[in-house]
Amino acid sequence: MCGIVGFTGSQKAAPLLLDGLKKLEYRGYDSAGIATLGEDGIHMEKAAGKIKNLDGKIQGGETLPGLSGVGHTRWATHGAPTDVNAHPHLSNDGKFALVHNGIVENYVALREELMAKGFQFKSETDTEVVVNLLELYYDGDMKDAVLKTVARLEGAYALGVLCREERGRVITARQAAPIILGVGKGENYFASDVTALVAHTKDVIYLDDGEIADLTPDGITIYDTSGKVLEKTVERVTWDVAAAEKGGYEHFMLKEIMEQPAALRSTIEPRIQNGEIVLDQFSLTDADLKKINKIMITACGSAFYAGSVGKYVIEELCRIPVEADLASELRYRNPLVDEHTLLVVVSQSGETADTIAAMKECKARGARVLAIVNVVGSTIARLADDVIYTWAGPEIAVATTKGYTTQVAVMDMLAVYMARRLGRLEDAVYHQMVEELLRLPELVQRSIEINPALQSLAEKYHSHNDIFFIGRNLDYAACLEGSLKLKEISYLHSEAYAAGELKHGTIALIERDRPVIALACCEVLLDKMLSNIQEVKARGAEVLAVVLEGEEKIVHEADDVILIPKTHPLLNSVAEVVPLQLFAYYMAKSNGCDIDKPKNLAKSVTVE
Ligand code: G6P
Repeated sequence: MCGIVGFTGSQKAAPLLLDGLKKLEYRGYDSAGIATLGEDGIHMEKAAGKIKNLDGKIQGGETLPGLSGVGHTRWATHGAPTDVNAHPHLSNDGKFALVHNGIVENYVALREELMAKGFQFKSETDTEVVVNLLELYYDGDMKDAVLKTVARLEGAYALGVLCREERGRVITARQAAPIILGVGKGENYFASDVTALVAHTKDVIYLDDGEIADLTPDGITIYDTSGKVLEKTVERVTWDVAAAEKGGYEHFMLKEIMEQPAALRSTIEPRIQNGEIVLDQFSLTDADLKKINKIMITACGSAFYAGSVGKYVIEELCRIPVEADLASELRYRNPLVDEHTLLVVVSQSGETADTIAAMKECKARGARVLAIVNVVGSTIARLADDVIYTWAGPEIAVATTKGYTTQVAVMDMLAVYMARRLGRLEDAVYHQMVEELLRLPELVQRSIEINPALQSLAEKYHSHNDIFFIGRNLDYAACLEGSLKLKEISYLHSEAYAAGELKHGTIALIERDRPVIALACCEVLLDKMLSNIQEVKARGAEVLAVVLEGEEKIVHEADDVILIPKTHPLLNSVAEVVPLQLFAYYMAKSNGCDIDKPKNLAKSVTVE
């Protein structure tokens, strides 16, 4: 979703800002722009479409003079993605340039108020209201104008402000949209996420909601909304630049699929010591844990599907009722949550607006919050009582792969760990499951190696428009993710169905040559799956079965087969999804899609 960068120092700002925007491209956007402050005032350029359009207009940044500036990638919310609606926006008097992420909910009232005072508006955005408030309140100190402006705003915002009258100064403010400050030597930065900063500095300050940062080349001062100066700690980022680059792969998505064994190793191995799962970050005592009578899992998108795996595994092992709820639904349904509820929040970015809102709602009702998050220092990580990080490293492709599988691995680990602490797992089973958890990276590697025909399978199936995924239990959870992967990057219509539910309506859509991807890795339900496969075959479907290695029963019924290496039946989900990711990747490639940046999607969805 929208990305912000800001810079002040002694180097030319525009090329640095442009580079920062390129690093934020992966978040999803549909226009981009930069404003810098030169000796003769503000210089600005913006362009609808890809950053290369902006790059062309400003010749790599060369045409925009100045040593400070702000930049933006916009994902349209108010108004179409046009040059006019792109950020930055200028105030009527041209003194201020502003970039903004988020949505100002009271912008209509503010716009009317400003129009009554004679302000004029050129764009359809809510942002123009904010920049004109800055003009209205400016009295010689841009920090004071920012303080007065943010006091008027309702909703979410991350702001980047440049003022023609104050050379070398850039200001940023945050409310429910991320901003990270980069602390350099004789220069300072801000950005929506660390990927835009790591090439320049690894020393960062995470801005919290309601904070405003005033940056000059020599220092950063942080204020709360009353103008009081705050002391914040500088933290060190562990990601390096190479981790956020393609490293010879054609797409980030392919690189990230191939990185999964390493990401899983980093996530699992340090947490298994002398045969025991050690979750230092899990602070519930045995007594606290015994009082938990309900576990709720909430998330959005693929993270929700990782949570759906967690529902099956945690409930089965811990014998505590588990509900998995979409965050956007949970927050508005007056949930039955109290201090005996453990809320597990799952998020790669840690910044998804709906997930944050659901989490706050449940926390206010007394739930204990455990977050599974990839991005260190993100909002969800900071708001949770406990955090278990997935150590997947930066994930750049919009469609998550290693983010998802490491979330599932943590869910699996958490289930085994809690069941052990609750005394609900026999020693022998526990030790066997711990061994199998340690094997997950190797199983993922194997699931790639034993399926060399995925690309040719994609070439066979890519021209079909409707593709069904069916499965039961954990296979159904994997269907949800497999189908979403296909939809989001190949733009093919696909549905995931619980195999037993198909006959209650959807089977009407099964006709000659309709591809049905049948996931059949739940050994206890194989006979049921066999019947479901026969039902669709009887109606002419072409069946691509996903089966465990050595499992012959289903293979005979299938037209094509994807093999999954065997492990403990409750731990199949990680290796099972990897060939589906690759299948989706090759389908998208066969269809000539923009794999890393699919249309209409954003990596980090910071609006509701
Ligand atoms: C977006 C992304 C999805 C992701 C979802 C949740 O929609 O495109 O890939 O699963 O947000 O993101 P999170 O960062 O909370 O895991």
